[in-house]
Amino acid sequence: MTPSNINPSLPMPEQDGLLQSEKLVSHIKGLIDEQGGMIGFDQYMTTALYEPGLGYYSAGSRKFGAEGDFVTAPEISPLFSQCLAYQCAQVLNDIGSGDILELGAGTGAMVRDLLLELEKLDLLPESYFILEVSADLKQRQQELLNKTIPHLIERIVWLDSLPEEKFSGLILANEILDALAVRRFKKTVRSFKELKVALSNDEFVWVEDDADVELEKALEQLEQQMPESFPEGYISEINTDIRKWFSGLDAVLQNGVMLFIDYGYSVSEYYHSDRTDGTLLCHYRHRVHADPFFYPGLQDITTSVNFTAIAESADALGLHVSGYTNQTYFLFGCGLEKILADMGSFDIKSQTEIAQQIRKLTMPEEMGERFKVIALTKNYDQSLIGFSIMDQRVQL
Ligand SMILES: C[S@@+](CC[C@H](N)C(=O)[O-])C[C@H]1O[C@@H](n2cnc3c(N)ncnc32)[C@H](O)[C@@H]1O
Repeated sequence: MTPSNINPSLPMPEQDGLLQSEKLVSHIKGLIDEQGGMIGFDQYMTTALYEPGLGYYSAGSRKFGAEGDFVTAPEISPLFSQCLAYQCAQVLNDIGSGDILELGAGTGAMVRDLLLELEKLDLLPESYFILEVSADLKQRQQELLNKTIPHLIERIVWLDSLPEEKFSGLILANEILDALAVRRFKKTVRSFKELKVALSNDEFVWVEDDADVELEKALEQLEQQMPESFPEGYISEINTDIRKWFSGLDAVLQNGVMLFIDYGYSVSEYYHSDRTDGTLLCHYRHRVHADPFFYPGLQDITTSVNFTAIAESADALGLHVSGYTNQTYFLFGCGLEKILADMGSFDIKSQTEIAQQIRKLTMPEEMGERFKVIALTKNYDQSLIGFSIMDQRVQL
């Protein structure tokens, strides 16, 4: 990409970032050449985010926090992970003992705060597995956890792929589903087209290609779920691999609960006829925009989650969808008020900070309503505390 292409309101990257992005761009151009002039957006997204040594999550950019590109709930406040710990405690207590598997642990803040709370409750998991696809984040997690919870470090096991043996307990994933690669599509008068990535004047551009049988079938099924057909020109995205992805998780859980926390909608809200350009968003230095071709490798690329598709995948695999609610109801259901009461009294500065954190986590205009929590259970039939205040499964 040449600088003339770049949105002037987005700050320029540093020199080493530019170099990394240039290498990634030339790698993607090579893929486009190899594949006859275009690649699917799913391949573009996977490469831009996870190409070893070059992708956004695989290379060393800051990502999280004030100097990075975005903040996630565990970074905003330990209260998030403390609440989640109460949900885990319920499950670990019910099933006797068990393990926890966290997918994509970010900076490691969630592991730290969750394990400290479970330790207080005397309900530590036997092992805390972290499946981390990013070597850079794995290193950062190890540094943080060795420094802050050295007495618990032996329980933490880093994995490069799903565990080989089945386990009982919980699978946790905060903001993972939004990072999974999707295919983009466009409705035309007669058919669906797939929007792919090609080159024009040596720059990435969108091109239309005929949808293959798999995509066409998935989109026809999707359209049947909607009150009316998509209007002509309607663009959105779909994850055609989601069931396969869940079957991998299903295969490793003997009994217990999977909890996914992410931003997203039910199918009817996601593919509402007014949302004519999908939900694709990129995060770069705390600015949000919709251009996935902006400095590949230096920005996060995400889409919202279709929670109905998650529930359908779960149903097809014989998992039980045992709760769906928003982040606010979930945190209060887990006991946010009680955790605050138990914290005792604070000076004015800390009180103000905590109030701000709670506001970010729970206010509807912040994360409270946009973020949802879905629970999938297997051989486990207790009602989960996180959904005790409000369960919105009917919306799915
Ligand atoms: C926005 S970050 C969220 C990190 C952390 N959970 C948090 O809340 O701060 C997205 C994470 O998803 C991870 N990820 C993406 N695809 C994954 C997969 N298939 N399995 C496990 N982690 C994955 C990335 O490596 C990255 O750490």
